[in-house]
Amino acid sequence: AEDFLTLGIETSCDETSAAVVRGGRKVLSNAIFSQIKWHEKFGGVVPEIASRKHLEAICHVVQKALEDAGVGFRDLDLVAVTCGPGLVGALLVGVSYAKGLSYTLKKPIIGINHIEGHIFANFLESDLEPPFLCLVVSGGHSHIVYVRDYGKYEVMGRTVDDAAGEAFDKTARALGLGYPGGPLIDRAARCGNENAISFPVAHVRGEDLSFSFSGIKSAVLNYLNQRRQKNLQVVVEDVAASFQKAVVDALVENTLKAAHIKKVETIALAGGVAANSKLREELVKRAGKDFKVHFPPMVMCTDNAAMIACAGYYRYKDGFRSDMALNAHATLNL
Ligand code: KG4
Ligand code: ZN
Repeated sequence: AEDFLTLGIETSCDETSAAVVRGGRKVLSNAIFSQIKWHEKFGGVVPEIASRKHLEAICHVVQKALEDAGVGFRDLDLVAVTCGPGLVGALLVGVSYAKGLSYTLKKPIIGINHIEGHIFANFLESDLEPPFLCLVVSGGHSHIVYVRDYGKYEVMGRTVDDAAGEAFDKTARALGLGYPGGPLIDRAARCGNENAISFPVAHVRGEDLSFSFSGIKSAVLNYLNQRRQKNLQVVVEDVAASFQKAVVDALVENTLKAAHIKKVETIALAGGVAANSKLREELVKRAGKDFKVHFPPMVMCTDNAAMIACAGYYRYKDGFRSDMALNAHATLNL
């Protein structure tokens, strides 16, 4: 099992990625082709462009992953591919490619849920074992997930409107920072005063572990409009820091609440927003002596195929298999 090779393929959004993972956790390669420069002038991902770029890139990216790992197609034992949730046209490129490969090589194929992939990024290059609590925060999702075992999840809380990453992206756009907004707000916030403006904390009344981020986003827009109408200066760094604080406070508070409920030993982070420096810092600080905190390596927080290969390996060990009927799904529950 230690020399079992999984090829992971990820095309759910604007990154074309392929990776070779050995024995579930050892990343031999993780090739990522980012399409950001084709989308950024539109201020967000354009689905049709994403599909076309995936189509152009997929063969090269897989080739690169194999070369970097020093293996050939015939050495592979399993093909794991993201089949949802995501942009359906983008997903179809990866799914179709993976099916063609599986059929040709006569090797098993497994469709993987993208969110499950993000959670599994925590196993890469680490010896973490379930159970643990995982905060999954990306451009499309904000979930508090209790990971009871491999493949066994309980979603304890989720966003009722925007995802955390979406709030970062929309706020960055309003501040004229560019796309994708998360890393840009993260950087700007380092030079700002997070107590300059008080934005509403993102809780849902009555629903203990849910998030709501559209209120903060609107509060930022209102603030900017008011300042502009009165011809008052806007300190972008202060707005970025204050916004980030409001989002991070809500994420950390609910996560700690859930961790206490489940009495876990470890809290893990996953998804693109897990790359946020303030979130990492605040969680470590407030988890204190009660919990261990675990992060995936930085490049494995945002979309990549190594996490998909890892999830595929454990699903395979559990006896799961997909077949040529595998399809792409825009929405897919964990
Ligand atoms: O997981 P991911 O790569 O793709 C999705 O599955 O959505 O997450 C992308 C999201 C984007 O919204 C991006 O702005 C956000 O993750 N992100 C960050 C940071 N790096 C990426 N948000 C806050 N701080 C960061 N450093
Ligand atoms: Zn993702």
